[in-house]
Amino acid sequence: MLKQIAREVLPYNAYLALSRAKNFVVSPFEHKSKMAKRRNGERYLAARVDTVTACNHRCQYCYTLDLTGHRTQLMTLENFETVAERLFPYLYSLALSCAWEPTMNKKLADFIRVAGRYQIPHLEFVTNASHLTEEMMIAAIESGVNRIAVSIDAARPETYERIREVDDLPQVLENLRAFKRLKDERSVAHPIININWTAFEENADEAVIFARENNDIFDTFWFWHLLPRMRNTVNPFHRMEKDRFFGVVQELRKILGNRLVSNEYNNDRSNKPLGICNRSLDNIRVEPDGTVEVTCSKHRLEGNLLTEDFSTIYARNEDLFEKLYRKETDFCQNDCDR
Ligand SMILES: C[S@@+](CC[C@H](N)C(=O)[O-])C[C@H]1O[C@@H](n2cnc3c(N)ncnc32)[C@H](O)[C@@H]1O
Ligand code: SF4
Repeated sequence: MLKQIAREVLPYNAYLALSRAKNFVVSPFEHKSKMAKRRNGERYLAARVDTVTACNHRCQYCYTLDLTGHRTQLMTLENFETVAERLFPYLYSLALSCAWEPTMNKKLADFIRVAGRYQIPHLEFVTNASHLTEEMMIAAIESGVNRIAVSIDAARPETYERIREVDDLPQVLENLRAFKRLKDERSVAHPIININWTAFEENADEAVIFARENNDIFDTFWFWHLLPRMRNTVNPFHRMEKDRFFGVVQELRKILGNRLVSNEYNNDRSNKPLGICNRSLDNIRVEPDGTVEVTCSKHRLEGNLLTEDFSTIYARNEDLFEKLYRKETDFCQNDCDR
């Protein structure tokens, strides 16, 4: 909350300087505490698992679609169970998706149920929700999934289709209504439904319309600034200036109050100086074939979860983790100022 206020009121450079000063002081302690947890056998890690590498949408701004030469893979349930055994006991947070669309895995409900058995404190996934089935929703409710982030970036079907090349908005809204009904029938508040709104000049005002018209089918709302990377240099959408961005944030606040839980504005990161970052330990990403990479980087860890425990993989890659932490490699591709 404090971070959000500072982001909104301070000039961007002052905010970054303050943020780095905080990181400089706090990060070594965070790192030490994580390492102490690791040594004591406590949960110290956050991971995202892409059980499938495919998507049914074609969002014109999406960085994932830039991954040229990728091959579509699908993890088997058996392999997922192996990965779960070897990784999940170390996790305090698990996302069952990262770069791709999790509902392209038609057995996602079974995968959710396996993950639910590990009592991970925070369990979530991010989806475009057009292929979210009742079976998946019920599995999410019964397995204690904490949050489902639903990526929506238009209030009008024509805008949605212009952005995503598919006309799925009515289906997505129907799925969210079904989810609300299933939660209401069971008198549960979880999973929290969060709208992930990736914002740019052409869709920002529709966020306000969406928030007003669909207030009852989601819990929280993230208003994210389009990241300036890869495809974005050639895509048809445009990043907003800071005043314009926070003008829309103000409108959203009037409708949503504190349900607007994130409004991240980022400047072009190309001139970003290096700083301390221990996000590497919080951002490992597992691919369907069991390989592990550090999210937001090109670093692939040596080892594979289908054949060995994560503690073995960590030990083999300890030097890399240390370097990432000290910013001695090209870890960061984001302007996240952590
Ligand atoms: C890559 S998608 C994968 C999960 C799922 N397919 C979905 O769309 O929710 C994860 C999130 O990244 C966001 N995203 C993709 N490209 C982006 C970009 N260039 N800038 C900011 N967010 C982006 C999407 O809007 C989505 O919320
Ligand atoms: S739905 Fe998600 S993964 Fe698919 S193109 Fe859109 S942002 Fe990218």
